[in-house]
Amino acid sequence: MEILKTKKRMQQWSEARRKKGKTICFVPTMGYLHQGHISLLEKGRPLCDELVLSIFVNPSQFGPNEDLDAYPMDIESDLRLAKEAGVTAVFLPQKEEIYPHDFQTRICLDSLPHHLCGKSRPVHFGGVATVVTKLFNIVMPDVAVFGKKDYQQFQIIRQMVSDLDFNIEILGGEIVRESDGLAMSSRNAYLAAGQRESALSLSRSLHLAGQAIAKGEKNPAVIEKKLIAFIQGFPETRIDYISFCDPTTLEPVGLIDKQILLALAIRVGKTRLIDNALIDPSQ
Ligand code: PAF
Repeated sequence: MEILKTKKRMQQWSEARRKKGKTICFVPTMGYLHQGHISLLEKGRPLCDELVLSIFVNPSQFGPNEDLDAYPMDIESDLRLAKEAGVTAVFLPQKEEIYPHDFQTRICLDSLPHHLCGKSRPVHFGGVATVVTKLFNIVMPDVAVFGKKDYQQFQIIRQMVSDLDFNIEILGGEIVRESDGLAMSSRNAYLAAGQRESALSLSRSLHLAGQAIAKGEKNPAVIEKKLIAFIQGFPETRIDYISFCDPTTLEPVGLIDKQILLALAIRVGKTRLIDNALIDPSQ
């Protein structure tokens, strides 16, 4: 497994593989790898000749009062896990390598970033789209895998790749959960022991909503009311949003008569957690 720290070396590595007719699968991350990331690497490994992982905590996707400075890191463990997962190259740049002092371009999408998490994180998806564009140009992959836990991010990347004609196939990896249902996230590391139970309010809400829809409830407002009461029953929770929306446009739906995305963001203490499920009333 090679570790490449500059754009030039990463590009040369990819160009050399592509010249030999090798295909490249790419999994971008901000590090602190957990089983959710490993599942993306496992999904990508058999698809291409090479598997590239990037580790870069991207400052441009954090707002001024967010957790950039506290974001957990463990490069030694990340490199060990990457090797075990069959990664052939790790792109590990410093901030200045990605954002030189004269950097001034930003990728914006018209509507997708303004729903769900974008409402309380106005700079987030512009930062994600910009860094992913740069990473695509540096790594030059054939296929890239993104986790569906960040469903809005996944949808934004798919839209961007289509709009900007990137010749890259975007695949989604399913949400990986702890045995108690909590969706895996690097931010779970922030949860104190007592907050862990409250964090389960997310996955349990998805389950409750699924049951209500299976029983024939079609009105999102009715289910939302039940979920609010349910979540507020857990200590230290504060709801950021509960959204029943169209899985493609992320626009809220008024009636659950076809597959919808139920997406949640809840603060548990200071930790903001997200989760989601696609729910189909016909199933
Ligand atoms: O999902 C993430 O870890 C990040 O948003 C990504 C895609 C690596 C961009 O920084």
